[in-house]
Parts: sequence; C-alpha cells; structure tokens
Amino acid sequence: MSRLYSLCGESIQKNLKTKILGRDLHFFDSVTSTFDAADKLSVNHGTLICAKRQTKGRGRMGRSWLSGEGGIYFTLVISPHTDAGNMQIYTSVCALGVYRAISKLVPCGIKWPNDIVSTDGKKLCGILTKARLSGGRCQYISVGVGINANNSPTSPDLPYASSIGAICGSCIDENALLCDVMLEIENCLALENPRVIAEFSKVCITLGSKVRAIYADGSQIIGKCVQIEHDGSLTIQTNDKTLVNINSGEVSVRGIYGEEYV
Ligand code: BTN
Repeated sequence: MSRLYSLCGESIQKNLKTKILGRDLHFFDSVTSTFDAADKLSVNHGTLICAKRQTKGRGRMGRSWLSGEGGIYFTLVISPHTDAGNMQIYTSVCALGVYRAISKLVPCGIKWPNDIVSTDGKKLCGILTKARLSGGRCQYISVGVGINANNSPTSPDLPYASSIGAICGSCIDENALLCDVMLEIENCLALENPRVIAEFSKVCITLGSKVRAIYADGSQIIGKCVQIEHDGSLTIQTNDKTLVNINSGEVSVRGIYGEEYV
C-alpha cells in the first residue's frame, strides 16, 4: 500500500474541531513512548502528545506495542475530577470515542475493555490508561492510544492484528482520523453515564460471548459475558451460574473457542 498521508503537527492543528482536546498539542517524529514524553511536560486537561513512531511503545499487561510509522500513537490527558475508584469508566468513554471515529471508516466493535477490533476479530487499536493520583483523588488520567492506521502491525507474535488501511484497501488520512478521534472523545466525555454504557454495550463484541478471564496470579475463570456495569466493569456468568464482576486492571480477557486475539 503506497503511503499518501503522514501524521503532521500543522495538519492536526488545522483540522481539529474540538473545543479543548488536542488544542495543547505536542507533536514528535519519534519518542520512546508518548507516556515518557508526557511525563516530561507540564500537562492540563486536553493536552495531546502525539508521535509518528515510538521506539519503546508500551501495551497492556506489560506487553510492548509495535509502533512503526503509519500508525497513530498518542497520549491524551484528561482531568475528570473523580475518585481513583471511578477511573475505569473514563477508559470506556475514550474507547467509545475512538470506536465512533474508526467505525466511520471500517466495520468494527469494542472488545472489552477497550480494544477496537475488526469484524473478523483483528485488533485495530489498543488503549492503555495511567492515572496520577493525589490524596485518593485522580489528578489526571493519561489515556494512551495506539491506532493501526496505515502501518503493518504484523509479526509472528501478532497474528491477530490488522490495520484500518489494510481493511479499506487504501491509505487512510491519519491526521483527519486523529482529529475525529479527538472530537468524538470530547463528545463522549460530555455524555451522561447511562448513555455511555448503553452505547458501549451495543457495540461491545465481548458481551454475550464466552471468555476466559485470567488474573495476574494466573488463576482463571471461564464464563459468558452478561453485562457491562455502570463503572465499565464486566460481569461474567460462570457455568454454575455464579456472577463474577471483573475489572480491566486486574484481568486479561481472551475469547475462547478458537477466537483468541491479543
Ligand atoms: C494495548 O496493549 O492494547 C494497549 C496499547 C496502547 C499503545 C499506546 S501507543 C500510545 C501510548 N504510548 C504507549 O507507549 N502506549 C500507548
């Protein structure tokens, strides 16, 4: 696929339609991770740190994130003025915003907690959230988003990843997509909680399916996903009908029956 577009700070600034998100933009050609770059800056609600590539991109559960050119890598800072315990819902809100923007380009869904996957279960986007806490309150949340736009996230370790460009069959406009992602996240942050949960549940491919939830200590439960709760957590019903509530920070959820994707 020949590349027609490339992320560019000026183009992002020109195309942004948000009130706040992304207006304080820090654009880099290359960083270790946009989280590292954010740590060195003075940030506020809406600060966007974006890079064309990362040399040490970080993923969930201690994994690395392949970050070659053609992808979109950013950390967005939000200050939701909430208790530390309410953070997960903001990850769901941001996932919904990213979903809204990507789904205008390719059919996709959300794999709980916050991956955007194509209809054949290939990962198009991952989200990793970090919080800065002060006295039990959340000072701000850094939402790290990696979108496989025009890059080729393929390696033997990543059989279940694809890119939006590969699915479209043509190079997509990375700057336009990033600006739309900012606008949709801003729109979703303004929604009431029940609306977020309702919309998230509608597009969440994990709901109704059977999964394996793996805890950090290696223990596992298998069950059917029955509900997304108001805080963004997931309720699983095990075979003996026990309801177990799981939180994205504690477990990794895999589809079973041959539909394992990272
Ligand atoms: C996942 O494992 O699914 C989450 C991947 C998150 C990757 C993004 S890319 C921008 C930001 N900086 C990082 O180092 N990681 C996140």
